[in-house]
Amino acid sequence: MTPHPPAHFARGLPRGDPRQEPSSSPVVSALIHSRGEPVISWTDLSNGDDATREDDSAVGSPPWVAAVLDYSGLASNPSLTLLFSKHISTMQPRIVILKDGTDTSQGKGQLISNINACEAVVEILKTTLGPRGMDKLIHDQGRVTISNDGATIIKLLDIVHPAAKTLCDIARSQDDEVGDGTTSVCLIAGEILKMIKPFVEDGMHPQTIIKGLRDSLAQLLAKLKELSIPIDRNDAGRTREMLIRCAGTALNSKLIAGQKEFFAPMVVDAILNLDSNLDLNMVGIKKVAGGSVTESALIQGVAFKKTFAYAGFEQQPKSFVNPRILALNVELELKSERQNAEIRITDPGQYQSIVDAEWNIIYDKLAKIVASGAKVVLSKLPIGDLATQYFADRDVFCAGRVPTADLERICNATGATLQTSLSDLSDKILGASEKFEEKQVGGERFNFLTGCKGANSSTILLRGGAEQFIAESERSLHDALMIVKRALTHSAVVGGGGAIEMELSRHLRTYAKTISSKHQMIVGAVARALEVVPRQLAVNAGFDATDLLNHLRAAHSKGEAWAGVDIENDGICDTVKAFVWEPALVKQNALAAATEAACMILSVDETIKHQEGDKNFNDDRLAPGPGRR
Ligand SMILES: Nc1ncnc2c1ncn2[C@@H]1O[C@H](COP(=O)(O)OP(=O)(O)OP(=O)(O)O)[C@@H](O)[C@H]1O
Ligand SMILES: [Mg+2]
Repeated sequence: MTPHPPAHFARGLPRGDPRQEPSSSPVVSALIHSRGEPVISWTDLSNGDDATREDDSAVGSPPWVAAVLDYSGLASNPSLTLLFSKHISTMQPRIVILKDGTDTSQGKGQLISNINACEAVVEILKTTLGPRGMDKLIHDQGRVTISNDGATIIKLLDIVHPAAKTLCDIARSQDDEVGDGTTSVCLIAGEILKMIKPFVEDGMHPQTIIKGLRDSLAQLLAKLKELSIPIDRNDAGRTREMLIRCAGTALNSKLIAGQKEFFAPMVVDAILNLDSNLDLNMVGIKKVAGGSVTESALIQGVAFKKTFAYAGFEQQPKSFVNPRILALNVELELKSERQNAEIRITDPGQYQSIVDAEWNIIYDKLAKIVASGAKVVLSKLPIGDLATQYFADRDVFCAGRVPTADLERICNATGATLQTSLSDLSDKILGASEKFEEKQVGGERFNFLTGCKGANSSTILLRGGAEQFIAESERSLHDALMIVKRALTHSAVVGGGGAIEMELSRHLRTYAKTISSKHQMIVGAVARALEVVPRQLAVNAGFDATDLLNHLRAAHSKGEAWAGVDIENDGICDTVKAFVWEPALVKQNALAAATEAACMILSVDETIKHQEGDKNFNDDRLAPGPGRR
């Protein structure tokens, strides 16, 4: 529709002007929006009247205005009226910056919708929190996963909402960084957003809220540091006890919680066995279906599943004492050069010489290996039937196609250096261990290398009935391993069971009272949001959450800093005395990640969604900079 001024404007004065006589120099500003109906306001400065009046057509017009024009003296000069109407009729204020079909939404509505999406994610996760949390069964294209681990659930949920996805990504970063506490991050972030939603609805600027959140975080982290209980690293006994407690708390909420007395020391030993790098890749977890979960074992060394082998394999010895170990990235198979090269011969007798050459190459390689003194030959690449038989005849054990992670662990544990050629098989590149043996575990055969001189690698053989059970046990052990690793590097702990959250909440409430600006409300909202952890722990355990929270608030105000939820007896208890310990680092990371997630979601006020299949999107919009040509 072509924009046009309202008819009464052409007469020289906007309708509704109380003065029918034009004044000497009124200032008329016209706001024209692109739908065609001009919105006109004017101010008569000549009378000293600076009130702005608006034409009726402005009522209900959308707020986006394409142009603002100032016409001084328009009302007193009829010739300008024509100019004005001409200008309006020729103006086409339509600027297209996005393709047709692009979905955009912005402003407050967008913020609220993002917050709602995050709340929906939290709604799914919150029942999994704590020792009495429920598990989720996720059915994904025929694969069934049962899990209590926040990170795993998030990964499998396949969330499409962009804002909810952001929350999930931040929660996953918690999993990568500390391995545990993903559910807590989502829960706290979701609750913070829920608490500040009314402020967003009331029009408080998101940046004001973000500032308040950052201020709260700084307070929380400082208080957390003050509250955390340091553990003396020089006291080996106490350090080990602390680590076992932390691993136990991490395992409390998992499927194998019943066996935490069995697994917690195992996890701690696996970590303490590592060198100063604490590289978790050096702890292998091998799942063996069948048997009871308590038949699981920690091997100080490396265990790997028997690899594919040829006939001669059975004649090879399966046990050695003090063997030398050779690790290879070399294929030991008879390569027929006929397939790789064109060979022209004039005499059939020459053919035999070519075949002989091929055999000589492989025999030469095998002879070098045996001469090196290695008794256990392991390769990432295949070891063929000829080589298998050759080694069997010389009492050497060999295994090809060993998984890369296992071979790396073997090198680390035994001190072997991975060889990509056989040109220098000196003694120093061979590894050593006290014992090598092949044993049957459940329905599988495993090779064990124990008593290794590097000795900083270990393997957990995980047993259990259903495949899903073992998979969830593995994830739980991974959480516990990460927790122990973190607790060892930052040896300070706090009381779990919602105690630390309640104490931090109390601190923030006190702090909020000292603030006189709007921030007070935001800090207060964060303080209330932190109570979600003990509340949800209580709800999930079937306790009366309101009652329990009142008890907790009262206890904390009396100075009982470690009062938390007593999961066993439906009440409150000192969680530090009850040994519900968590590394301070987990809480520190969780608070920072939750605040960051909330700030990120608040700072987005517009979502632009491109049509599906718009493959040329990037090419169309990004100018071809020097690197893009
Ligand atoms: N025995 C216990 N009594 C009370 N609270 C406990 C006990 N054991 C653990 N908790 C609490 O349970 C919470 C941890 O629950 P959970 O392990 O389900 O979630 P998360 O660690 O936040 O996330 P995830 O493990 O899924 O990555 C912590 O707040 C912890 O203090
Ligand atoms: Mg946990």
